[in-house]
Amino acid sequence: MSAKPERAAQPTILLLNGPNLNLLGSREPDQYGTTTLAEIEADLTRLAAERGAALVCAQSNHEGELIEKIQEARDRVDVILLNAGAFTHTSVALADAIRAAGVPTIEVHLSNIYRREAFRHQSYIAPVAVGQISGFGALSYRLALDAALDIIASKQGGR
Ligand code: DQA
Repeated sequence: MSAKPERAAQPTILLLNGPNLNLLGSREPDQYGTTTLAEIEADLTRLAAERGAALVCAQSNHEGELIEKIQEARDRVDVILLNAGAFTHTSVALADAIRAAGVPTIEVHLSNIYRREAFRHQSYIAPVAVGQISGFGALSYRLALDAALDIIASKQGGR
């Protein structure tokens, strides 16, 4: 008997959003656009389903909850799409969780963090991520989903 949880037959992608991203649509629209998080989640869920993957969505304003979601993803999720919000620039603990979970993680930002204040230029997530997509507004999430599906296809193809 295996102690490992069963992995779903369908590939699973976790879309995880951090603090203040629940306010998308009304929060600093000049910076983040007018699309709500619910709209982004619905869009990605549909696009993932069209390509044979299940999308699980979660958002939290609490660092510990985000860490727990990442820990739970271990052996259950194929790829994580993570917009850690401001925790991107502060959280060694989130980076450690990603490293420990061993799930390929794509870092996502709506804004281009390198065109903004200097404190946003440092990402603790980048060194543990497969890659980073930053600056395309809501499209950043679609691009990240595309990358996630590519990672899954590569794994399935045994490449
Ligand atoms: C953000 C960029 C972060 O610097 C900021 O704290 C956010 C959103 C983005 O998506 O552009 O909350 O992650």
